Amino acid sequence: MQSELARQLDRTYRFQRHLYDVTRKYYLLGRDQVIDDLAPPPGGRVLEIGCGTARNLIRAFRRYPDARLFGIDLSREMLATARRKLAGAGLAPRIPLAEADATSFDPKALFGEALFERIFFAYSLSMIPPWEAALAHAVTHLAPGGALHIVDFGTGASLPRVANRGLRAWLAKFHVTPRDDLEAALTRFAAGHGAALSVRDLWHGYAVKAVLTRA
Ligand SMILES: C[S@@+](CC[C@H](N)C(=O)[O-])C[C@H]1O[C@@H](n2cnc3c(N)ncnc32)[C@H](O)[C@@H]1O
Repeated sequence: MQSELARQLDRTYRFQRHLYDVTRKYYLLGRDQVIDDLAPPPGGRVLEIGCGTARNLIRAFRRYPDARLFGIDLSREMLATARRKLAGAGLAPRIPLAEADATSFDPKALFGEALFERIFFAYSLSMIPPWEAALAHAVTHLAPGGALHIVDFGTGASLPRVANRGLRAWLAKFHVTPRDDLEAALTRFAAGHGAALSVRDLWHGYAVKAVLTRA
């Protein structure tokens, strides 16, 4: 039985998923930087939460061919595109995917792995209403010394006010809300877990990139 959020995501992506990768490359900025930053240890387990069309996972596989990659997403429509793309790239057996909610997934049951050396969210926290719960859940699945990477829409604080207002109104049509409290929430999680944190604004706050590393 699908949740109301999952049904809403499927309505959003039913048609968009076919044009998703060609359109989003112009405004989901910073994703390739995050993939470059991941640098998992040899054989490291890497999980993308809200993997969409698997665009990032395929790129991560090419960058880190000996990493063990996994993806979850709540939208069956997105997962259908992701599975088709992985099959087309011959990677379906190498990158397991699962339909699951970011706030409650059980990776041991889904993939046989409880912990990951790297976990990343790329433009998915801004679509998850209980985004702090999703972050808290992700942190519990980080292996010791593991890192959580995030890229998403930023506060836009250094953008012209009218541009920032227009951007937010446009994003809202896609159920996307920049998480203005992201840095504050990450600071709390880092303190609570004895983790190191780095947060960087990109392109005048259009996007934000963060890494939380467990001790
Ligand atoms: C803007 S897309 C980004 C997709 C991919 N990360 C990328 O960079 O191309 C956000 C993704 O998050 C997924 N998502 C939203 N809420 C979710 C949730 N609660 N649990 C898991 N995935 C979710 C959506 O279905 C969608 O595929």
